[in-house]
Amino acid sequence: MRILGVDIGGTGIKAAVVETQTGELISEHKRIPTPQPATPENIASSLAQVVADLAWSGPIGCGFPATVHHGVAYSASNIDPSWINTDAQTLFTQITGHPCFVVNDADAAGMAEMRFGAGQNNRGVTILLTIGTGIGSAVFVNGQLHPNTELGHVRFGDSIAERYCAESVRIKQNLSWQEWGIRFNEYLNHLEFVFNPDRFIIGGGIAEHMAQFQPYLHTKALVLPAHSLNQAGIIGAALFAESQI
Ligand code: BGC
Repeated sequence: MRILGVDIGGTGIKAAVVETQTGELISEHKRIPTPQPATPENIASSLAQVVADLAWSGPIGCGFPATVHHGVAYSASNIDPSWINTDAQTLFTQITGHPCFVVNDADAAGMAEMRFGAGQNNRGVTILLTIGTGIGSAVFVNGQLHPNTELGHVRFGDSIAERYCAESVRIKQNLSWQEWGIRFNEYLNHLEFVFNPDRFIIGGGIAEHMAQFQPYLHTKALVLPAHSLNQAGIIGAALFAESQI
């Protein structure tokens, strides 16, 4: 089935039409900056613009950087706080005029990787982490998703993990790969102590640089880059929409 997959992030909004049978992107890959302030009204109108630019008509899956229960956003770490308690699914459906289905962005990326990427046929416990503006997580047990985990928000030092080792922190603090890799290893070790996963899958743009920080990672669990790097969120959003139709 063909579905428009949209990955709404704290920094950019990415979209493409996805063939859900194969996970392939079958249209231009569109990317626009996330509007600031990232309020419901502003993000909704950016979404409408992307849909119009791609001349799309049909169902839409949206990965969204917050916990999402039945289409309603319940957190807002890297978006405007006015998102909390906003029914994103109804808002997006109204503004685009097409049925929209909204899911946490990391859960979407995880679904894509489990179906088509580094998590295919994985039994046991898999934790996918998306490292970008924030840190998102998707936890799978024998291929089954436990939705809306927020492992980027575990208490870490005197702050939370995503303020210590997100990609945005590496850039803002101008950390070397070694400095960042050591921080990220501490975080993985903490998650490993608590969850004992079989493997971590690392998504987001940083996955392309695994070779530079892998030497600093010391975990029992396997650490693998996501296969579809920055596209997993788009593909997974489309898979989520398909599962809701
Ligand atoms: C949000 C998560 C989201 C992650 C990645 C975090 O700040 O709380 O819900 O998955 O960023 O966008």
